[in-house]
Amino acid sequence: MIDLSTNYLGLKLKNPLVASASPLSKKVEQVKRMEEAGIAAVVMYSLFEEQIIHESLELDYYLARGTESFSEALTYLPDIGTYSLLPDRYVANVEKLKKSVHIPVIGSLNGVSKGGWTRYARLIQDAGADALELNLYYIPTDPSLPAQELEDMQVNLVADIRSSIKIPLAVKLSPFYTSLPHFVKRLEKAGADGLVLFNRFYQPDFDIEELNISHTLELSSASELRLPLRWIALLHGQIGVDLALTSGVHSAADVLKAMMAGAKVSMMASELLRGGADSVSNILAELRTWLEGHEYTSIQQMQGSMSQESVAEPSAFERANYMKVLSSFRDLP
Ligand SMILES: Cc1cc2nc3c(=O)[nH]c(=O)nc-3n(C[C@H](O)[C@H](O)[C@H](O)COP(=O)(O)O)c2cc1C
Repeated sequence: MIDLSTNYLGLKLKNPLVASASPLSKKVEQVKRMEEAGIAAVVMYSLFEEQIIHESLELDYYLARGTESFSEALTYLPDIGTYSLLPDRYVANVEKLKKSVHIPVIGSLNGVSKGGWTRYARLIQDAGADALELNLYYIPTDPSLPAQELEDMQVNLVADIRSSIKIPLAVKLSPFYTSLPHFVKRLEKAGADGLVLFNRFYQPDFDIEELNISHTLELSSASELRLPLRWIALLHGQIGVDLALTSGVHSAADVLKAMMAGAKVSMMASELLRGGADSVSNILAELRTWLEGHEYTSIQQMQGSMSQESVAEPSAFERANYMKVLSSFRDLP
């Protein structure tokens, strides 16, 4: 019998498949179906700072930089209530989901500034969440705003939330930091127990006939796995926090790659939005078959086996590999 279990944020999970934050967690029935199919844990859709508080001066400061005014910035945000439920409903939903399923439920906050809104971390904990994921999603547009200031702000936010809760805290990041290893070390010192790599940034497109900006959300493809895969392989062994991989996980092979890079769990949103609970059972069945066929007895056995610590050629993850890859292209017409 193959042992698929893994430990993430101090939680013992029956396998490494976690449902990433998405609208699927808005319906208890959907989560139950995924649970029956074997999903090991679920991250809830996010509660946004903007939904909790509008009058925070600090939020005002960061949102307004690069736009004409805070109120203008707010007009681009989805209506409260249309994208998500009101904050108190969110907390009630955490409680409801916890009562309805047996798998761990991870709450999710999405914000940028320190302030009163962070009390929701505590409320989500008190509603029974097993852990909290903090999504740091910020697009710097102001040329006068230095990276140091932004990073300090994010580290302070993590420290602030850490001190207000007892449950484990994971931080979900974008890949856009100048020195990611240094920044994640700072997050670790600030009290993060886990890192979720990486957030997907939804890029606006142009409608060239209407001269409009179109905001269509496209689901991910498997090629997006490579970015988090590389960074997890690079960070594994260098920091003392658990790593979760998100973006581009669509198959059992993707889960295996995430584990070999050094992730404790692999998270899925797009695949579950497309394939529903069937995707979970299919991937788990394929995982078992692959592991049996390759004589593994457990998932934990392979975690980190392809990280920079373990591979014969660690430079494959670094600059040194760049010229080699470019010169390997043979498919010229
Ligand atoms: C429709 C949709 C809604 C999402 N909502 C959230 C959210 O509320 N909070 C969050 O942190 N991530 C959210 N995400 C991002 C996913 O959790 C995930 O990190 C991202 O889609 C990459 O994983 P994937 O390739 O499996 O889709 C959302 C993604 C989708 C497609």
